[in-house]
Amino acid sequence: MSHVIGISGSLRAQSFNSALLRAAVALSPPEMKIEIASLEAIPLYNGDVESAGIPAAVTALKNRIASADGLLIATPEYNNSIPGVVKNAVDWLSRPPADIPKVFAGRSVTLMGASDGPFGTVLSQAAWLPILRTLQTHPWFGPRILIPHASKVFDERGELIDAKIREKLKSFLLGFSAFVAHGRA
Ligand code: FNR
Repeated sequence: MSHVIGISGSLRAQSFNSALLRAAVALSPPEMKIEIASLEAIPLYNGDVESAGIPAAVTALKNRIASADGLLIATPEYNNSIPGVVKNAVDWLSRPPADIPKVFAGRSVTLMGASDGPFGTVLSQAAWLPILRTLQTHPWFGPRILIPHASKVFDERGELIDAKIREKLKSFLLGFSAFVAHGRA
């Protein structure tokens, strides 16, 4: 059984990306358990705060990722790039640099994303690439989960109601699960 931490890059209650992550939890194959970790308690990065001591919420999230086998990021797209909320969290998670090996290096990571626009986070997902590279992660690049026009794909309760996308997500998760399991062998 692989253990994956899932992070949504949006804090809003009706977030399509959080809904997508919940759908991934429900549709994950039995051999991969996804546990959602919230970014709500992560403060804004400030080097002075860091000098005084890494905030407890950051340390807790670092430890959760470090003890998992993989990381699944549901990323929104803001201004054709990564939203500050999730970039800020990753910046904290990369401090101090001596901890990058235990949190990120060799960690199996993949991305998915939803937007109500027509391009479904394609540019945000591309903007993640230098970050995944610089943190020495082990990214999985199977067929992309890009969800455009998200308000037609999720209902008002955040349920993923598009049957084709549910099947695509299932097969994406199966692929990531095999990749994560291989990484652990
Ligand atoms: C957006 N949105 C957006 N969408 C997109 O497809 N490409 C973009 O470049 C942007 N830019 C952007 C900037 C800012 C500041 C906001 C607040 C929004 C729309 C965005 O994808 C939409 O709000 C999603 O619903 C956000 O994700 P969650 O919160 O639903 O997960």
